[in-house]
Amino acid sequence: MSTETALTLVVLISGEGSNFQAIQDAIDAGKLNARISLLISNRADANGLNRASRAGIDCSVIKPLRGQSRSEYDQKLIEAIDPHTPDLIVLAGFMRILSPLFIKHFCGRIINIHPSLLPAYKGLDTHQRVLAAGEKYHGATVHYVTEELDAGERIIQSRITIDAKDNATTLQQRIHREEHIIYPRAIQLIIDQTRR
Ligand code: GRF
Repeated sequence: MSTETALTLVVLISGEGSNFQAIQDAIDAGKLNARISLLISNRADANGLNRASRAGIDCSVIKPLRGQSRSEYDQKLIEAIDPHTPDLIVLAGFMRILSPLFIKHFCGRIINIHPSLLPAYKGLDTHQRVLAAGEKYHGATVHYVTEELDAGERIIQSRITIDAKDNATTLQQRIHREEHIIYPRAIQLIIDQTRR
């Protein structure tokens, strides 16, 4: 695949980084014409940092400081990201709400993956809430990030049927498997639109 036309990505994580890994694996397999230029974590103990180091990707830990406002923190993110001139900011389990400052700066270029069939079940603890409501279906959504939480335009979704034996742990595992398929696919859809 051509590196000249490859989409430049910056990935933000807070934890395991399995979605980052799925995207990197798709790139390595030649299925995604993109390049991850930088991975940022807000936590030093995020396992995704180990995954990124193993993949030879530049990593940066930007920890929130005591007394720092959301905008001040996000300004640090912007300063770290801007030199990479990314086409897309990929939120992959980044457990912070981004400020309007950040969202305006990268307007229309931020995507997120959320473990529910948006617009249903915005926010946290989606697996528990879906089970408590007795839902038949659950899923994952990749969407653009706007100032309203989990409300931006949807790019792709995957739906599963909830089994009587499912609990929050099995749902999390099943949803993760779906996420690993749809996140690279969503980025490919954006590449296809951009390069048209
Ligand atoms: C995923 O379930 C994603 O939907 C949510 O955070 C989780 C991140 O998982 N936003 P991982 O760190 O990519 O393994």
